[in-house]
Amino acid sequence: MRIAVGSDHAGFDLKSALAEHLAAGGHEVVDLGTDSPDVSVDYPVFGLAVARAVAGGQADRGLCVCGTGIGIGIAANKVDGVRAALVHDVTTASLARRHNDANVVCLGGRITGLAEATDAVDTFFTTAYEGGRHQKRLDEISQYESSRTDPAETTVGGTGDDHERQQPSS
Ligand code: RB5
Repeated sequence: MRIAVGSDHAGFDLKSALAEHLAAGGHEVVDLGTDSPDVSVDYPVFGLAVARAVAGGQADRGLCVCGTGIGIGIAANKVDGVRAALVHDVTTASLARRHNDANVVCLGGRITGLAEATDAVDTFFTTAYEGGRHQKRLDEISQYESSRTDPAETTVGGTGDDHERQQPSS
């Protein structure tokens, strides 16, 4: 798998260790920066770079790390087609793939230790999307990206005649 990786200074050490781990496992890793833990940089630059690589097809998936994983994930999710998920462990990594078909994994370098982060990333890059009932929800996000229409006002995949507000579903 071709994986674009990026971090700010706070995520540099964890990103570098995970990049090395992924490369040793046979993945093609493309490091989009930053290049040092010692120079303060802005996480949106690197989150957007990773997200654009994934959305543009230059990478299959992405890995983003900042101090918490929050800021860089917010930035990555601004790019249409990107589903960036903040994960803390194997459980959240697995669910991000199985339910959300997440294509960018985000971690906090100041939050998650290397061993747990490595297990989470391995899980993320080996777990399949389940589809089924989850697909309609992803379609609602895609629809919003393309038309800025509220999914509650329309029926994704329907006839287009049904504009009744949807009821909550499980
Ligand atoms: C940098 O100090 C820190 O704010 C950043 O890495 C990240 O945690 C933001 O969400």
